[in-house]
Amino acid sequence: MPETRQRQLVHPLVVRITHWINAFAMVCMVMSGWAIYNASPFFPFRFPAWATVGGWLGGSMAWHFAAMWLLCANGLLYLAYGIGRRHFRRALLPVHPRDVVHDAALALRFKLPHETGRYNAVQRALYLLVLSLGVLLVASGLSIWKPVQFSWLTALFGGFDFARRVHFVAMAGVVGFVCVHLALVLLVPRTLLPMLTGHAKPTVHEGTQA
Ligand code: HEM
Repeated sequence: MPETRQRQLVHPLVVRITHWINAFAMVCMVMSGWAIYNASPFFPFRFPAWATVGGWLGGSMAWHFAAMWLLCANGLLYLAYGIGRRHFRRALLPVHPRDVVHDAALALRFKLPHETGRYNAVQRALYLLVLSLGVLLVASGLSIWKPVQFSWLTALFGGFDFARRVHFVAMAGVVGFVCVHLALVLLVPRTLLPMLTGHAKPTVHEGTQA
């Protein structure tokens, strides 16, 4: 029966391209960021050298800033597309706390149905959260990169030292999101191919959605 159904476009090209560039840039930013943190840690731990890139502080900073331009340009393209072509309104909104609680309870019991081309409330909430964390990362990053030029922003974050902690906590939030995101993709691997090709058959299955 599903054979007669046309494959539908579930992820537009711009969303797919910006998603994968973002994933690459984020990994570079996190791994080089850990190396920069290691040079002057404010918590009683350092990240293992194998989980970092750059080799030495100057090299890691070069990686961090190179990936920053890629992340920002790509993020701006995604935001412009999301707002201009109403992708956010169509795919990520609205999000009602009641629906998030409802869908989260179903997901925890592996009873959340997967609807092709439609994100459930938990996904919407998580995607909006990680996008907000991305904005917070860029803003707090700017405030510690150029604390003189952006002194008003640094002040807004409660000073240089506090802004560093905000930057760290936002990074931890993104890393936590990626862990959950990847676990859900592993649980429902058939969501992966459409994120590459864009298309999927409009069928409804049982199970959780990535
Ligand atoms: C830093 C890393 C990542 C971030 C911040 C991220 C964020 C997101 C966001 C915001 C969306 C929704 C896109 C939209 O429709 O506008 C999404 C969808 C998706 N992502 Fe990621 N992602 C990351 C890495 C990955 C990786 C490494 C994979 C797979 C190996 C992956 C697989 C997917 C899939 C399959 C979907 C579509 C889910 C579905 O249709 O149900 N993501 N991701």
